[in-house]
Amino acid sequence: MNIGILGTGVVGQTIGSKLVQLGHEVMMGSRDEANPKAVVWAKQEGRKASFGTFANAASFGEIVFNCTLGSASLEALHQAGAGNLKGKILIDTATPLNYSDKIWTLTVCNTDSLGEQIQRAFPDTMVVKSLNTIHCDVIVNPNRLSEKTDIFVSGNSADAKATVSKALHDWFGWRSAIDLGDITTSRGVEMYVLLWRGFRQATQSYHFNIKVVRS
Ligand SMILES: NC(=O)c1ccc[n+]([C@@H]2O[C@H](COP(=O)([O-])OP(=O)(O)OC[C@H]3O[C@@H](n4cnc5c(N)ncnc54)[C@H](OP(=O)(O)O)[C@@H]3O)[C@@H](O)[C@H]2O)c1
Repeated sequence: MNIGILGTGVVGQTIGSKLVQLGHEVMMGSRDEANPKAVVWAKQEGRKASFGTFANAASFGEIVFNCTLGSASLEALHQAGAGNLKGKILIDTATPLNYSDKIWTLTVCNTDSLGEQIQRAFPDTMVVKSLNTIHCDVIVNPNRLSEKTDIFVSGNSADAKATVSKALHDWFGWRSAIDLGDITTSRGVEMYVLLWRGFRQATQSYHFNIKVVRS
C-alpha cells in the first residue's frame, strides 16, 4: 500500500520505518521539498521510502498519517491540501500541546479538540484520531509491554475506524482498539496526554500504556 506520512519528527520516522519494513511504499512529507531529516530517513530506509512536500505525501498516500506538531497540524494539513486528502482516511496521531511552559497546556481543549478542528476543516476526509496516547516506540511495538494494552479510535466514520483498527492490528500488532465514538471523543485522548506526562515522570519510562479492565 502507498502510505503518506506528514511529519519528519520521531513519530513520522518511527511509523514510516516500520511500514517500509513491512513492505509498504512510504512518502514522508514536510514543509520543504527536501527536508534534511526526511532525506536522511529515505536514504536509510531504501527504495520503498521517499520524501517530498506535505502535498506530495498526501497525494501519494492511500492512507495518510498526521504526525505533525499539534499546534501546527492545521497549517501543515492546509499545505497538504484538501484535494489531496479528499476521500482518504487520515490517522491523526497529534496532540495540541504547548510545550513552552514547565507545566504543559493544550492549545485547544474542553469544548473542542484538534481532531474535531481537522475534521471540520477537511469534511471530505475521514479523520480517525488514534495512537496519541502512547510513545512512538510502543506504537510500532505493543509487545514490548509485558501485558496486552489498549489503544483508542475516535471518528465519525465507523468504516474508517474499522479499517484503521484492522490496519493497526496487521501492521503493528494492536489486538485491542477501543472505539470511543465520534470525533468529539478526541477531546479525552488529547487531554489524557497531560496525565501521560505524569506517568512518564513517575515511571521514568516512555514504555507504558493504559489497560482497560472490565468486570
Ligand atoms: N513523541 C511521541 O512518541 C508521540 C507519540 C504519539 C503522538 N505524538 C504526537 O505526534 C506528533 C508528532 O510528534 P514528533 O515529536 O514526531 O514531531 P513534532 O516535532 O511534534 O512535529 C514535527 C513536524 O511538525 C511540522 N511542523 C512544525 N511546525 C510547523 C508549522 N508551523 N507549519 C507546518 N508544519 C510544522 C514539522 O515540519 P517540517 O518537517 O517542515 O519541519 C515536522 O514535520 C505531535 O503532535 C505529538 O504530540 C508524539
